[in-house]
Amino acid sequence: MKVKAAFSLLAISGRATSLSTVPPTQIANTTVIPNAYIIEFQPDFHPSLHPLQRFAQTPIGIKAGYQIRHEYNSSDLFLGVSVSFETNVDLDSVRKANGVKNAWHVALVPRPQPYFRNGSPKVQSASGSGNTTLPNLRGVSGVNQPLVSTNVQKLHDQGIRGKGVQIAIIDSGVDYRHPALGGGFGPGHKIALGWDFVGDNYTGFNTPMPDPDPLATCASGGHGTHTAGILAMEDPDNEGFGLVGAAPDATIAAYRVFGCDVGDATNDILIGAMLRAAQDGADVISMSIGIIGDIWEAINPFDAVVTQLAQKGVATVAAVGNFGPAIYTASIPGISQDGLSVGSMENEVYPTHYTAYDEKQRSLDYISVLPYPAKGQQDIFLLGTGLGIPINDTVASGCYQPAWDAAANASVDWNTTLLLVSYTNNCGNSWFSAQDLGASTIMAYLTSEDQLIVLDEPGTTPEILWLTYNSSKAIVQNIKDLSPNETYSLKFDGSTAAQSQQLIADPQGRFMDSFTSLGPTIELTLHPKVASPGGTILSTWPLDAGAYAVISGTSMATPLAAASYALLKSQFPHLTVAQLFDRLKTTASPLPEYNSTIPFTSTIRQGAGLLDVYAAVKADSTITPSEFSLRDSANPPPQNITIKNDSDLPNHYIISHDPAALLRAHENYLAGEPNFDSNSAYTPHSVPASAQFSTTKLTLQPGESATISVRITPQPDNYPYSTPVYSGFVKIASASYVYSIPYMGLPYSRDAVGPIAQNVTTTIPYATPQVLSIPGNQQSVFAAQATTPNIDTYYWKANASESIVPFLRIDVLLPSKHILYELVPANTSFIPTIYGFDPSVKIDYQDTHQPILPGFLGVPTYGTIRDLNLTNNASPSTGFFYMFDSPTLSNNGVAYNITSGDYRPLARALKWNGNETNPDDYESYLGPVIRANIPADVFPSR
Ligand SMILES: *[C@@H]1O[C@H](CO)[C@@H](O)[C@H](O)[C@H]1NC(C)=O
Ligand SMILES: *[C@@H]1O[C@H](CO)[C@@H](O)[C@H](O)[C@H]1NC(C)=O
Ligand SMILES: *[C@@H]1O[C@H](CO)[C@@H](O)[C@H](O)[C@H]1NC(C)=O
Ligand SMILES: *[C@@H]1O[C@H](CO)[C@@H](O)[C@H](O)[C@H]1NC(C)=O
Ligand SMILES: *[C@@H]1O[C@H](CO)[C@@H](O)[C@H](O)[C@H]1NC(C)=O
Repeated sequence: MKVKAAFSLLAISGRATSLSTVPPTQIANTTVIPNAYIIEFQPDFHPSLHPLQRFAQTPIGIKAGYQIRHEYNSSDLFLGVSVSFETNVDLDSVRKANGVKNAWHVALVPRPQPYFRNGSPKVQSASGSGNTTLPNLRGVSGVNQPLVSTNVQKLHDQGIRGKGVQIAIIDSGVDYRHPALGGGFGPGHKIALGWDFVGDNYTGFNTPMPDPDPLATCASGGHGTHTAGILAMEDPDNEGFGLVGAAPDATIAAYRVFGCDVGDATNDILIGAMLRAAQDGADVISMSIGIIGDIWEAINPFDAVVTQLAQKGVATVAAVGNFGPAIYTASIPGISQDGLSVGSMENEVYPTHYTAYDEKQRSLDYISVLPYPAKGQQDIFLLGTGLGIPINDTVASGCYQPAWDAAANASVDWNTTLLLVSYTNNCGNSWFSAQDLGASTIMAYLTSEDQLIVLDEPGTTPEILWLTYNSSKAIVQNIKDLSPNETYSLKFDGSTAAQSQQLIADPQGRFMDSFTSLGPTIELTLHPKVASPGGTILSTWPLDAGAYAVISGTSMATPLAAASYALLKSQFPHLTVAQLFDRLKTTASPLPEYNSTIPFTSTIRQGAGLLDVYAAVKADSTITPSEFSLRDSANPPPQNITIKNDSDLPNHYIISHDPAALLRAHENYLAGEPNFDSNSAYTPHSVPASAQFSTTKLTLQPGESATISVRITPQPDNYPYSTPVYSGFVKIASASYVYSIPYMGLPYSRDAVGPIAQNVTTTIPYATPQVLSIPGNQQSVFAAQATTPNIDTYYWKANASESIVPFLRIDVLLPSKHILYELVPANTSFIPTIYGFDPSVKIDYQDTHQPILPGFLGVPTYGTIRDLNLTNNASPSTGFFYMFDSPTLSNNGVAYNITSGDYRPLARALKWNGNETNPDDYESYLGPVIRANIPADVFPSR
């Protein structure tokens, strides 16, 4: 049985402009290793035995035929194994086995993908391997701006640099040969300890080859070198840029879980790495790793480990993921309850820029990680030259093919010429054509001030030198001013920093990055918890691949947050993980919404806001709690806030409310709205909640604390299937600091709205729920047709293009822990919540010789189409498009073809908080008659 549904939906979302049209789990992509499980034992189950031996005592371990993948023998943290069975074993039976406390699927963890403009760039190994003398690029301004933005710099200025704190980094390995990373490994070095769990050649499927050395020198393993640099790099005098990591005096322990080239890791290796990090003495673990798919807290295998670690004083800081701007895309392990998930804010400046001069000595500034190495004069060839037409931004963009043809026909020595192109967002990919010309370097000019440049890794071909906006305007004018037959050229000196010390502002600087994943979890817990700079970040890179790189991602935001925690921990070693997280959150600064009149971006995008680590260290008050996850309610109960004055003076407090944006997961599921906004790109709405406080002014004596209450009331919302999430901040201003508490919630109760969407207007054709008909060789819902009411006839043929088959469109848009799709007898007596036909219309049913089975909760059935629940890892809560291209059902895992005759589709979805064994707790849809014509010779029944 094929489910082509996901593909057609993704195609639709492409046409409908944005991923935010896609119900959350459609983009979920957890790849589970079949019959492999992480198993945690009951603490009192054979307590004297090792985990391996304990497993052998469980009913599933007594049966032969398994291989142990990992043993977790950390008596105070986690006792368990991960195991691969040689036969089919389902998760439910593992969970129910005597001695087992909990169990999870072993799943692939995709290697972290930084965010690139052109997709994954080709990285070429730079020559000169082993040359560890780096160019001296001092004077390039703005390289340490992320430290300034987060006020880490102010702590460094006071000598607070993370001394005495151990930070573990679980990543793709580190090129610690880099002088900025200490040039070595082991006691006394910056990277003082660690472990390689996998080896260079690991892909996620082959056998890991562990060794004690976490070195990764390969360019494709550069991720861990970059994140390690953000934690703790320090360029030596006279080498590099003068870069400094956020906690340069901390001890770094590096754990490698990804191999070199393409390939993933598995969650059981990650858990092994986390436990080892704790055993090795970590205070905080930085994980720039995000796995989307299991966005239910209930099935997160990391949750228990993160909680255990936190109770032992080990903090877990993890990326929220790069799956934005769709909401409900926060990743594991970030969503673990006692961890700190981190979203990405765009850097305020481009960290590096350099200067070139034309023949009239006019300077032009360009943005590039390293200065253009060619020395002397370079001719500039503007794309479009030789066409004999005026060259405008479109002609020069790369989208206009005749311009490439003219460039190919021009006699140009590309060894001494730069190709000048204009940047329009959709033409960057076509710049790869420059390689066919023989041009290895492109100079790109901007056409508007708000264009965000996404720099690629060093070694990408063609290399791109980006002119700043001012220099872009200048070069266009300078070339326009040339007399006929005059050429334009630029001189580079190949080494020195920009002439001007001026910072080049990033147009989206200090706003949340569009790629950053949005929370909340399905269970409606706020994520991310905080934001830190992760967009356009300069850090270390493997020496053989350029030594420095600017990349973007929540991966880059995470180590800065972990290092911030380390700085705070170094000052407050006695505080618990939760108390330190609270301090980081309540002192963070809420960020505005980009390009909007709405004052603050949603808390499910920024959490508590941008870290202010100086404020976290110096705070004069303790505020608890640090967030309000108000869940699903039109009228959430009042919340208490405790304020304690930690200063030596009486403190006056003023308490107020700052609403933030409301967001919808499905902008295009609005009930009864004739003119709804079909543009479903990320759209912040101004629908502020209101807040009533028990008091808005307060004075506390030194050491005194008081508890006030706040009642936050959202505005009513008529569009439940768009799953709106409202948000904002409670603000508490003391004499010297402003604290805030982020909140979020759904403005209605999920119990009051069934999970199956109905009576909605959507951008996707045809109402839901509904049965459509479609030619058997089509894969998109756009090829489907509405059917006749009450009954329609379908034909399955040997040749799919001659088949006309049913296409079920049933969107379960509110989360449901159990969704069951079946075919049932056409004359069923089942009474659904939603009729897909007129029950008063009489139909002469055509008999099918299909055996009737007892069915779930006493509803007779012919068999199952799909059965989605949390333990079969199907991540229910999804739009459902099912094309019945083969007339196949299943029962207890056995698939079979059905015979000709009449059927009805039945969908049942468990309501929120419903009891799975109570028939009344399901919402259901019973569809019109599917009159099936199925040739038995083509689709033999069993
Ligand atoms: C899902 O993961 C697989 C394997 O990593 C990948 O090839 C595929 O493109 C992913 N699909 C989506 C929709 O991300
Ligand atoms: C090493 O790199 C530096 C800086 O790029 C350069 O000056 C030096 O010539 C290189 N040394 C060797 C042996 O390649
Ligand atoms: C890794 O793979 C390469 C290429 O297949 C091979 O030459 C090398 O020996 C392998 N390394 C290990 C440690 O297996
Ligand atoms: C740019 O020039 C091309 C080719 O002459 C022309 O088709 C296009 O309309 C021009 N665009 C603008 C904005 O002037
Ligand atoms: C350009 O450089 C390449 C590689 O260095 C060389 O083979 C080629 O002859 C050069 N072309 C010209 C026109 O100098």
